[in-house]
Order: sequence, then structure tokens, then C-alpha cells
Amino acid sequence: MDLYKQYADSIEFTQQYGKTVITAHHTDLLISGVGRSAAAFRIRGTNLVIKVYFPDFTFIAAEEAAIYRLLAGSRYYPSLHDSGDHYLVIDFVDGRTLFQCLTEGKRIQEKNIEEVDAALSEAKKAGLTPSDVHLRNIIVTPDGSIKLIDLARFRQVKEQDTQWENLKGAFPLYNHLLFPKRVPETILNGVAYLYKKKPGLFHFFIRG
Ligand SMILES: Nc1ncnc2c1ncn2[C@@H]1O[C@H](COP(=O)(O)OP(=O)(O)O)[C@@H](O)[C@H]1O
Ligand SMILES: [Mg+2]
Repeated sequence: MDLYKQYADSIEFTQQYGKTVITAHHTDLLISGVGRSAAAFRIRGTNLVIKVYFPDFTFIAAEEAAIYRLLAGSRYYPSLHDSGDHYLVIDFVDGRTLFQCLTEGKRIQEKNIEEVDAALSEAKKAGLTPSDVHLRNIIVTPDGSIKLIDLARFRQVKEQDTQWENLKGAFPLYNHLLFPKRVPETILNGVAYLYKKKPGLFHFFIRG
């Protein structure tokens, strides 16, 4: 049997207090991160990650694989190596998400914001409509450049998503001398919750 499929099939998920948790995985897999629709595992001894979707989200695998294919060759996105009905195999991206940069106090550079814009322009040129671009889906690599992951919603057809524009608009505030460069996770999660519920509250802080 195909090794990647064997890895994907080794993963077991269960629901605990409304959250999906991993209860089993192949010993070659190291948990890299858990999102809302999938978990990502580094494959031991490789520079690859296998992203395995939770049972209710397996339909996303084919959609996201197609998006990765459209962006093949871009420096801003990991490459796709294989895909199956409930998993993708992509490059492992070393580094910290922008969310981790904030919670760990690692300063985010203006150049990183420009790189995300360049990455999104490339996606638009490829005919995509990027959405769901947020702090946990942007990784700053050890050489200081960025890569975007989690492209499932890069073909959004509903109303235009302004999440990235809003995050970018908050950068001048973050960059201010007096703004704390380390922000506790609970505060960030609280801000994200408020942003979803009452986006109007943020217009005052966001430029542009
Ligand atoms: N290619 C990758 N390299 C390193 N870590 C990754 C990679 N892909 C995903 N992750 C980690 O796994 C988490 C969940 O993956 P993600 O694609 O964002 O899933 P979801 O669609 O559920 O949000 C990410 O936030 C990140 O921490
Ligand atoms: Mg994600």
C-alpha cells in the first residue's frame, strides 16, 4: 500500500468538549499543528508534512490540492507532493506563524507584510480569490521570509474577504514604539473573537 496513504489512515481523531483531538498516529509522524479542519504532521526524516483532514472536512482535500497545483513553483507557497481523498503531502515549512511571533515576542518585519501582499497578488494572477489569510496561516521561516499555508479558501466565491487587509491595516499600530511586541495568546484569541462578532469595533484602530 502507498506509504502516504498508510500514514494518513493511521490517524485517529475523536471529539473532546467540542474540539477534535488526535488519539493515534503512525510513529513516523510528529504533530506539527492542528487547525479547524485538519491536523498536520511532519514525516520523520523528511522535509514533508502530511495534512490529514478531520472526518467532516475530507471534501476539502481535493479542493486544496487543486489550489496548490495552480501555485506550483511560487516561492511563497509550499509545493504539493501527493494527495489522496483525505490528505495532502506538502513541504514542511520551518519557522513560526505570525501568531507565534506575537505570542513569543518575535518582531514582525514590514518586509513580511509586503511579501504576503506579493504572495496574494500571485494567487490572484493565477485566477484565485484568496481568503482566510490570518496570523496562523502565515509562517516566517528562519531566513526571515514568509510562506503561506492553508489554501483551502483561496477560491472563495462569496463576498470579498477583508481579513488580511484589516490585519495589514493594524500593522502601523503594532509597529508603534509603545505597542507591546509580545501579546498573550488569550488576548489575541479575544481580539479574534471580537473581530468576528463585531468587526465595526476595529475601524478606529485600522488604517486604510
Ligand atoms: N506545511 C506545513 N509546515 C509546517 N507546519 C504546518 C504546515 N501545514 C500546516 N502546518 C501546521 O498545522 C496547522 C494546521 O494546518 P492548516 O493547514 O492551517 O489546517 P486548517 O485548514 O485546519 O486550519 C497550521 O496552523 C500549522 O501550525
Ligand atoms: Mg489553518
